[in-house]
Amino acid sequence: MFDEKSVDEVGRVLADESQPLKARFRALFTLKGMGGEAAVRWLASALRDPSALLGHEAAFCLGQTGHAAAKAPLEELLRDRDARPIVRHEAGEALGAIGTPDVLDVLREFSSDPVVEVAETCQLAVRRVEWLQRTRAAGGAEEERLGTSTYDTVDPVPAAASSDVKQLRCTLLDDGAPLYERYRAMFALRNVGSNEAVLALSDGLSCGSALFRHEVAFVLGQMQHPASVPALASRLAVAEESGMVRHECAEALGSVATPESLEILRAYRDDPERVVRESVEVALDMWEHEAAGEFQYANTHSQLSAAAVTAAGKTDGPSAAEELPNGISAH
Ligand SMILES: [Fe+2]
Ligand SMILES: [Fe+2]
Ligand SMILES: [Fe+2]
Repeated sequence: MFDEKSVDEVGRVLADESQPLKARFRALFTLKGMGGEAAVRWLASALRDPSALLGHEAAFCLGQTGHAAAKAPLEELLRDRDARPIVRHEAGEALGAIGTPDVLDVLREFSSDPVVEVAETCQLAVRRVEWLQRTRAAGGAEEERLGTSTYDTVDPVPAAASSDVKQLRCTLLDDGAPLYERYRAMFALRNVGSNEAVLALSDGLSCGSALFRHEVAFVLGQMQHPASVPALASRLAVAEESGMVRHECAEALGSVATPESLEILRAYRDDPERVVRESVEVALDMWEHEAAGEFQYANTHSQLSAAAVTAAGKTDGPSAAEELPNGISAH
């Protein structure tokens, strides 16, 4: 457990608009790792940040904490039709990730939202919560395993039970199949993790809805497989593609972190779309983190502690690893 003072120190970095975005991003993921109610409060305060990138990532992190205190601010945001679609969508997904029965009403209500990304997200989230309730009621530990990820994230739907890549690929790419089944195939392919699975997912970047394509890009970012670089680069290059998708392609290229992905990212530093430009800035920081073999991306707390130790003139440094996870999984 982290004391409230440490959480507040990290929270102040997140809230400080004069800090570089990449530092605020690291603070965001540090808070997610710290967890607890104080961290949830700081994350919630970032939901309406002028940067939609930061706001939507705060929503994602709130959902990943699974904390009950995250529900009210997420619901309030989802209900606000003036809020940006990318943030509202992530709020819906986050409520689904928390997954308690009391989030069902609002998710059902917004399942017919005029913003298609929001509606689709809420439809998927309703299915996830219903699945979770059914599975728990039946005591199905084996079934519930499909909803847990090896990537330290709560997935928006349980993975399909199959590991047949050809069959999963067919479902993934079938524009006539229900979105829920296509998502289940997507997460099953990620769990398979083979080269063939990466290529199947890469094909998914050019079909389905914007929501679907952005989730494919997110999953490819989690997998960090070099075979996905050409497809991610081509999708990022489509100027008329939704910013939500292009942003996710940029972040994925940052976590794949090949020399080639660095060159690609640099070409979009001045992209006209803010969410893409900011994603590139953060992705370049992720790239450096991966390339340096740095242990921990979410390092704001350890950096602040090290700075305090230096300022106090002590010689014994803080323990580097803390209790925080070292993966990124930015959304
Ligand atoms: Fe998203
Ligand atoms: Fe997602
Ligand atoms: Fe995202």
